[in-house]
Amino acid sequence: MIAMLLFQWRLPQASNFAPMVDRLFDFILWFSIISFLIIVVGMVFFLFKYWRKKIPEDKSAYITGHTKTEMSVAFFLLVVVMVIFYWGWIDYKAMKTAPEDALEINVIARQWLWQFQYADGKMLTNELVVPKDKPVSLIMTSQDVLHSFYVPDFRIKQDVLPKMYTNVWFVANKTGPYQVFCAEYCGTSHSQMLAKVKVLEPDDFEQWQMTGELPEGMETKVAPAEASAAVSGAAASTQGEPLAEKGKTLFSNKGCTACHSVTGAAGVGPTLKGLFGHPVELVDGQKVNVDENYIRQSITEPQSNMVKGFQPIMPTFKGQLSEEEINALISFIKSLK
Ligand code: CUA
Repeated sequence: MIAMLLFQWRLPQASNFAPMVDRLFDFILWFSIISFLIIVVGMVFFLFKYWRKKIPEDKSAYITGHTKTEMSVAFFLLVVVMVIFYWGWIDYKAMKTAPEDALEINVIARQWLWQFQYADGKMLTNELVVPKDKPVSLIMTSQDVLHSFYVPDFRIKQDVLPKMYTNVWFVANKTGPYQVFCAEYCGTSHSQMLAKVKVLEPDDFEQWQMTGELPEGMETKVAPAEASAAVSGAAASTQGEPLAEKGKTLFSNKGCTACHSVTGAAGVGPTLKGLFGHPVELVDGQKVNVDENYIRQSITEPQSNMVKGFQPIMPTFKGQLSEEEINALISFIKSLK
């Protein structure tokens, strides 16, 4: 009975990380159960062995320590803690580094809904559609307060912060809808900040990308009009122009072209060609890798991470661009290989 409970309480394992997380969890759980039993049995054993009445009344028990035993117990526990630490670190590292070929999707969290922005211009509310057996990388930010993207069946949870990007990735290995929760208290409707991840067969996913139609049993039951009124739990989708295209338009509309070339030619500001994913040297000599967070900071606080050899003349675009627009600009800059 107890064994049945122990084995059946497990959530579905629907991602590549689920077995990994569960193995470590099981190790810690069973180690704790066995330790607990050893301690309780030992306690009861010694309770009887050193029963007060067995010792003559005029003598109180004189109990000294046993250094060797104490040290070996402490050492054994240290080893176990280090094993758990190392194991956790290996798993954590795997969870932190998304593969290069991952499908990138931007996530924007706000009170109290989730928006998913695809490279092809699709924008979904409270509904994330992904292909099975393909790595998916989520680049997430918040428009207001702290949120946390949590999919129990995938064993992933990552805080979503305003003014910066955090990343989480996974390979979903079973089709179906899975529940997304917000795992960081974010205000009145925190508990209703829910979404669904819909995992489709690769063919169905392609079909969905082209037509926007979900296979039977996965359809969204709520009309998009309702969702736009920010009804929690409702899903909606819109199709805009591809992100990089939108970014390109913004890039010239906002006047970026005046200083930044996209061809590799020198200008008042650094060229953006081939910039993404490569290191740049800053004014203070520090070398940083150009990632989403670097570009974001360069747009909103251009003076904070100046590239060496350039003048601090770029105006800030803080508050002038929406999260969607910043994502579009980053997507455009990424496309300038
Ligand atoms: Cu968002 Cu809690």
